[in-house]
Amino acid sequence: MLSVERRVAIEAARAAGALLRDALSATHRIAYKASPVDLVTEMDARAETLIVERLSAAFPDDAVLAEERGTRPGRSGRRWIVDPLDGTTNYAHGLPVFAVSIALEVRPAVVLGVVYDPVRDELYVGERGRGALCNDAPLAVSTTTNLDASLLTTGFPYDLRTNPDNNLREYAVLSRRARAVRRIGSAVIDLAWVAAGRFDGYWELRLGAWDVAAGALLVEEAGGRVTGITGAPLDLERPTLLATNGRIHDTVLAILAETRGG
Ligand code: IPD
Ligand code: CA
Ligand code: CA
Repeated sequence: MLSVERRVAIEAARAAGALLRDALSATHRIAYKASPVDLVTEMDARAETLIVERLSAAFPDDAVLAEERGTRPGRSGRRWIVDPLDGTTNYAHGLPVFAVSIALEVRPAVVLGVVYDPVRDELYVGERGRGALCNDAPLAVSTTTNLDASLLTTGFPYDLRTNPDNNLREYAVLSRRARAVRRIGSAVIDLAWVAAGRFDGYWELRLGAWDVAAGALLVEEAGGRVTGITGAPLDLERPTLLATNGRIHDTVLAILAETRGG
């Protein structure tokens, strides 16, 4: 039972989420990372500082990997993995689809995942082997068995303009095979909504550990399946991801393999 960890992570996610929500309609200073489509706002940094300060104060021996400021080393063998604002492009445009993600990894597994969507006031919490909840109600993936009747979601890498391995072919193929494919702009919400049964599956070619650590645990604890896009186990150091309700997983893997020539 991770009761203290759970409480601290939930409080940090709620506080960061409230900070983000309250500033959503304000004008934000935008800076660019590796390319003109890879944004960061001052709110990413403010939310991250709030979360990292709370985690570090409560668990000074734990390492922390946070998207914007990188790794703070620790000596406990435990690592917190934080995306303070997932959906930055949405956020910078005032689009209310974004979330805070906090996970605790005790190698080799993520054992706790907390996701907070402040706009819908939805708090998702999963603990390895103990299930996953949204606002205290148990989460369960969908029961759809046919890809034909499935609602999928995906995302595209920030180097889409320059890297030909940019998911556009996969998107075209799966759009013709599924009922529809959405692109909502937040990997963390994509995963939470697979766990909640709103989406039947989600794939993306290249992500960061902070995008997937908490959400992948939610999907697994809600009864779904998570692998890389080739079917290999999820690798948090270089995540490619397919997360589904389990029932459509092999079908999507086969289509991705065929499309990617694997
Ligand atoms: C991004 C979002 C987006 C996904 C990108 C991520 P960020 O995270 O989750 O939906 O397609 O791959 O990097 O930059 O908004 O934290
Ligand atoms: Ca992210
Ligand atoms: Ca982010």
